[in-house]
Amino acid sequence: MTILQVQSLIAGYEPGLSIVRGASIHAAEAEIVVILGPNGAGKSSLIKAIAGLVPITGGQVLLDGRDITTVPAHLKIRQGLAFVPQTENIFPLMTVEENLRVSGGILPRAEVGPRIEEIYQTFPDLARQRALMAGSLSGGQRQMLAVARALIVRPRVLMLDEPSAGLSPKLVEQVFARLTEIRRSGLTIVLVEQNARAALAIGDRAYVLVEGHEAHEGPAATLWNDPVIAELYLGQRRAS
Ligand SMILES: Nc1ncnc2c1ncn2[C@@H]1O[C@H](COP(=O)(O)OP(=O)(O)O)[C@@H](O)[C@H]1O
Ligand SMILES: [Mg+2]
Repeated sequence: MTILQVQSLIAGYEPGLSIVRGASIHAAEAEIVVILGPNGAGKSSLIKAIAGLVPITGGQVLLDGRDITTVPAHLKIRQGLAFVPQTENIFPLMTVEENLRVSGGILPRAEVGPRIEEIYQTFPDLARQRALMAGSLSGGQRQMLAVARALIVRPRVLMLDEPSAGLSPKLVEQVFARLTEIRRSGLTIVLVEQNARAALAIGDRAYVLVEGHEAHEGPAATLWNDPVIAELYLGQRRAS
């Protein structure tokens, strides 16, 4: 069943200058959808627009069949659409637990504590580090915290902008392994990535975004094995 449907989306930062130019993507329940593409293709702008953070001038965003195109960002979160930006996705001068509490702010008060305990079960490292300043965590742990913060409110769809950026291959593997675990609970994941190899390894389906709209779409495995696409769009030659 389709949870997220984006139809012919047009969005940009300034009037008359569209960065997202007619992008159409969709994601089913418990699917991991990967969005690849060259630098400046508009990947970040696309998911920011879906999240309500870049003005939309055309097209539609449907969540579970409901039109949420013009819903403000903070209300999209309440409706089940969570977004983890590439940077500034945690409060470095707050503890891990304070970071989780802030995100839990839109839950009924009595639910916040128990929900944080559930999150600690999923992220045992964060439980151990709960009293530490978030800014003192390693890059991988920070990304885990950013993901955990987004999960607090039990979203239906989790969109992530380059969670592997700046991480060592080992940490990328750990963060992505955690994403596949989380997906088992039925969560839909939309993953924007530069790291095509790692993203396609966990993805079900992928899009290649070029100049603000999707140029290719297919099963993640097929895309990785298509040498033309790999050379043209994935920004790296395939090591065979
Ligand atoms: N905050 C912004 N204000 C104006 N233009 C922006 C902003 N962010 C990105 N852009 C422009 O949008 C285009 C696409 O950028 P972006 O969505 O970041 O691409 P990608 O994530 O695929 O690298 C680029 O030309 C970039 O300069
Ligand atoms: Mg980007």
